[in-house]
Amino acid sequence: MEERLQKILAQAGVASRRNAEKLIADGHVAVDGTTVTELGAKFDAAAVRITVDGLLVRAQEQHVYFLLNKPKGYITTVADDRGRRTVLDLLPEVKERIYPVGRLDNNTEGLLLLTNDGALTNGLLHPKQQVDKTYIARVQPAPTQAALIRLTEGVDLDDGRTAPALVRVLASDGAEARVEITIHEGRNRQVRRMFEAVGCDVKALKRTTFAGLTLAGVPRGKHRKLTQAELVHLRQLAGIAQEQPARSKTAGRSRK
Ligand code: URA
Repeated sequence: MEERLQKILAQAGVASRRNAEKLIADGHVAVDGTTVTELGAKFDAAAVRITVDGLLVRAQEQHVYFLLNKPKGYITTVADDRGRRTVLDLLPEVKERIYPVGRLDNNTEGLLLLTNDGALTNGLLHPKQQVDKTYIARVQPAPTQAALIRLTEGVDLDDGRTAPALVRVLASDGAEARVEITIHEGRNRQVRRMFEAVGCDVKALKRTTFAGLTLAGVPRGKHRKLTQAELVHLRQLAGIAQEQPARSKTAGRSRK
């Protein structure tokens, strides 16, 4: 059955109908190797080979889940128009169209999940779910007792007061300290801004846990697949239904 290209892309889970139109108009979509920019063009999805930026659109792409130990110097996006290294460069063998669950700054390292499961991503990032993230920050100067109390109770940032945090000083010599901080919000540069607000400069930042997952056994720059038990746990935290293995999965695309 012939359908408009943007509808095929939207049904395959590539993008919303509107964003699919933009992908087409911007020349990202090819049918049988020829770029199609006409929005009304119709095709039989079963009979042609549709790619988006060279990635094959598949009706039955499996969900995949990875835990990455992100090094500094990689940006947390799927593409960069300035040619900078992205976290996807660290998982070159993954053919599915994965993306990061939330973000880490270019100069932050540590635990980052990547998946093509939009429902799980949305659930884990939804403020209502209050998913914990733990960071270790090297800060200068070492925070005072008053600063630690402020971090714990919530500090006023330009986008509002932060929720209470768990804060623990791991080491300190007065001039510098290593501080572990657990938050459940996910605002932009939140940890750096929280420390700045109490007079401390963050010299290094590493995320050590996300949703109870840790970096154990995953060296810097490496990644591993999540286990089924971890996925069950994450879906519980995200407040979404468990996937039934026998059921068909949502659509997506994969590299070919
Ligand atoms: N908070 C920050 O300031 N940076 C990050 O990358 C993550 C949390």
